[in-house]
Order: sequence, then C-alpha cells, then structure tokens
Amino acid sequence: MRSVQYTQNGDIDQLHIAEANAPSVGPGEVRVAVRYAGLNPVDLAVIGGAFGQATGTKGNGADFSGVIDKVGEGITDFSPGDLVFGGRPHRTQTTHLLIRDPAERLDKIPRGLGIDTAGGLYIAGRTAIAGIRALAITEGETVLITGASGGVGIIAAQLAVNLGARVIGTASEANHEALRNLGLEPITYGEGLEARLREAAPEGIAAAFSTQDEAEIKQLLSLDIPAGRINSIGAGSQVADTYGVSIAGETAAERGDLAWLAKAIAYGHVHVPVAGVFSLDEVQSAYRFLKGSRPAGKVVLRVDADSLTNDQRAFLSS
Ligand SMILES: NC(=O)c1ccc[n+]([C@@H]2O[C@H](COP(=O)([O-])OP(=O)(O)OC[C@H]3O[C@@H](n4cnc5c(N)ncnc54)[C@H](OP(=O)(O)O)[C@@H]3O)[C@@H](O)[C@H]2O)c1
Repeated sequence: MRSVQYTQNGDIDQLHIAEANAPSVGPGEVRVAVRYAGLNPVDLAVIGGAFGQATGTKGNGADFSGVIDKVGEGITDFSPGDLVFGGRPHRTQTTHLLIRDPAERLDKIPRGLGIDTAGGLYIAGRTAIAGIRALAITEGETVLITGASGGVGIIAAQLAVNLGARVIGTASEANHEALRNLGLEPITYGEGLEARLREAAPEGIAAAFSTQDEAEIKQLLSLDIPAGRINSIGAGSQVADTYGVSIAGETAAERGDLAWLAKAIAYGHVHVPVAGVFSLDEVQSAYRFLKGSRPAGKVVLRVDADSLTNDQRAFLSS
C-alpha cells in the first residue's frame, strides 16, 4: 500500500509517500480501499507539532471515503463492496486503511452523496453541525458565518439557511457568487468589515459562527452580538473563559451527525463543492492549495487503491 507520512514535525514539505504491505484483517476489523481523503487545516497543525512531537513514522489526515475490500470474522454490518466514509485520526491518506471499530467509525454513503464529497466530510461536517447546534438558531434571525467559503463555513452556513435564518457569510470576493447561489449574502472580510456588517444588518446580528482568531471574536462582540450567541471554532479554547463565547467544535459532535449530514446532502438540502482534487503524489501541492486563495468547498486527495475489479473489466469487454 502507499501512504502519506512524515517522520519529523515541520511544514508541508515533511510529507512524503511511503510503501508498505497492506494490513491483514483480524476479527471485528474491516479494511477500506480508500478512494478520497479530505484535507483540513488541523492536519498542518498536527504536522507542526501543536498536538505533540512526532516520534517515529506518522500517518497523515483524518477524513476519508472508500470501498470495503475485506471484512474480518464477526463483522455483520459491512460487506466487501460497501461504500463508506468516516474519519480515523491522522492516518487516512493511504490506499488501504484498517478500521478496528467499524461500527463506531464508519457510515455508509447513501445514494445521492458523491464519494468525492463524502471523503471530505468527517471533520468539517461534524464541526459545522456541533457549532450550529450550539447557536440554537431560530427562524427569521440574522446569522453571521465567517469563513463561509471554507470547508466548515460552507456547511454551517447552509444549515443556518435551512433553519430559516437570514445568513450573511464572509469570504473573498471571488467566492461571493458561489455563496449567493447557496442562499447566503456574502461580504468581504478584512478592513472595514464592521462597517459593512452594520450596513448589511442595521437591526443587528443575532448569532455568529466564528471560524477565525481572537481578534474576530472581539469584533463580533463590538457589533453587540451577545457572547452567548457566538460559537468559535478557530480562536482556541481560552476564548470561552475570556469572553463567555461557546467553543463547540468537532469534539462536541455526536455519533449520528455524519449520517444525518450525508442524507441532507443526498436530499439536496446542503451542497458541499469539491474545490480541488489532487493525487496522493501531489499531497504537498494539495496542502498549499488548501492554504492559499481558492474556490469554495473542500480539497481532497484522490487515492487509487485499485483499478477496476475483474467484474467491471468483464462488463467492458463483453
Ligand atoms: N475547533 C474545531 O473543532 C475545528 C474543526 C475544524 C476546523 N477548525 C478551524 O476552523 C478554521 C476553518 O476551518 P476550515 O476547514 O473551514 O478551513 P478552510 O477550508 O481553509 O477555510 C478557511 C476560510 O477562512 C476564510 N479566510 C481566510 N483568511 C481569512 C481572514 N483573514 N479573515 C476571515 N476569513 C478568512 C477563507 O475565505 P476565502 O477562501 O474565501 O478567502 C475560508 O472561507 C480553521 O482555523 C480550522 O483549524 C476548528
């Protein structure tokens, strides 16, 4: 199998591809032939050492989608050929992924959800649901989502739209049309944002989903958004004590959230664009693309575990 790895903390250039034998499958385990593996900003924080120093070889990435290719003894809920998606902290960018607790880790991909989109949902989707839940949005409220073109923001914003809110979303100018098409009112972030928000919502903003730093929290408070109606996912946990805002993020998500989101996407209530697709070999370029100015949505790696199955080949040649 081929996997993205790093052996010491640092930046994107630490990432490389390593080859090894694919894992064998034991009782209660399944193996996934990974098709897509999503990228998240937190991956770079992990590589950078924010969650501890790397000792030895480390895998990379949390999000994935793929096809079950082997099941161990005792597995009854999954069969070879099932399309699944989920997250496995810090080693999903690999052709063959061993899952030890499939009932906890995996959800099946419903008809209507693309396997590419599914590969980028685990962190962003669960974070968006947990944060929106914390805001307790009611119909008719004006809600601000910052970073609304990003992986988390684009999902959170559409959940708020679906709850009947008027949703203002900050993003670069180049992403405004995409956000308008999803029912948002886009506003450019950066200098002058406060004035633009006051003009867009003279009656005030009821609640905000903040994806940026502590300075943004201060800005939101100065707009008289009550601290109890601000949820921060980007400023660190200290903002909860300092300002009284909530910090519901990925760890506040519940089992079942991802399956719910998968259906919401399949039914057309939420659209998650794939902003960029890169091969496993292009992993460094993929992270540079994630960090730079880019189209709205999720960035994913396309991971080719296998080519067509023998049945698929026979179909084409019959
Ligand atoms: N606490 C948690 O559990 C949790 C979970 C997931 C993510 N996060 C954090 O939440 C943040 C967003 O994650 P993501 O996956 O959505 O990232 P992402 O996909 O890279 O999106 C970043 C967003 O931020 C916008 N942006 C860039 N520079 C900005 C600035 N100076 N001011 C305002 N907005 C700016 C981008 O807009 P344009 O592209 O349109 O310029 C884009 O909408 C990251 O810091 C991530 O680490 C936290």
